Amino acid sequence: MAVITTKGVEKVYNPDKIPVKALKGVDLEIEAGEFTAIVGPSGSGKTTLLNIIGGLDRPTAGYVEVGGEDISQMSDNALIDFRKEHIGFVFQAYNLIPVLTARENVEFVMLLQNRSKAERHARADELLKAVGLEDKVHKRPAELSGGQQQRVAVARALAPKPTFILADEPTANLDSESTANLLDIMARLNQEEGVTFVFSTHDQRVIDRARRVVTLVDGKVDEDLRR
Ligand SMILES: Nc1ncnc2c1ncn2[C@@H]1O[C@H](COP(=O)(O)OP(=O)(O)OP(=O)(O)O)[C@@H](O)[C@H]1O
Ligand SMILES: [Mg+2]
Repeated sequence: MAVITTKGVEKVYNPDKIPVKALKGVDLEIEAGEFTAIVGPSGSGKTTLLNIIGGLDRPTAGYVEVGGEDISQMSDNALIDFRKEHIGFVFQAYNLIPVLTARENVEFVMLLQNRSKAERHARADELLKAVGLEDKVHKRPAELSGGQQQRVAVARALAPKPTFILADEPTANLDSESTANLLDIMARLNQEEGVTFVFSTHDQRVIDRARRVVTLVDGKVDEDLRR
């Protein structure tokens, strides 16, 4: 069953000034359990597409269904609840909470889900270890490098076990060891827990691990390879 369906999705930025047509009719079906990379040149529309699939932005034309629901029609408030329930985000703006430690940032969403303290700690520490930050669990974002903050953001997105995870260049700031670690944990969550992953990337090591590679060129799907 498709978890995500986009149909004729178009996005025009600045429609009233100098319009930029970022997406020109994207039809895509993402099945449950996919491990899919969105690739393509800079400016081809990858971030725009992920934002629209994740309900962070709305298409100018076309629609997006997630789990059979048309999220393009939802109110802003309904979308917020929907995102919290179903979608884990890993975007380049890490949006960590400055006054919380790494562990507390990772635990935050689980707190809203009423998980026990022991379960929260165990899961947060497991995920922080997986992204190579086991010695940083008590550090606040300001005490971490950009790449380390991104790794906390990755751990945080994975923590609540969302239906699917959208990641915009999740390994962009990671060294090769951290990239390999991160890919391993993503692949493990994908295989063992059935979490669907859709990520944009320019990183060949990440592309090599994808089982489907969708290439965007100039706002359209140019190639769609499964392997
Ligand atoms: N908020 C915005 N306002 C106006 N134009 C935008 C906005 N965001 C993106 N664009 C334009 O839309 C097009 C697609 O941008 P997008 O960020 O989706 O590309 P991308 O494939 O993610 O690129 P990159 O690989 O560099 O991250 C580009 O031409 C970009 O300049
Ligand atoms: Mg981008």
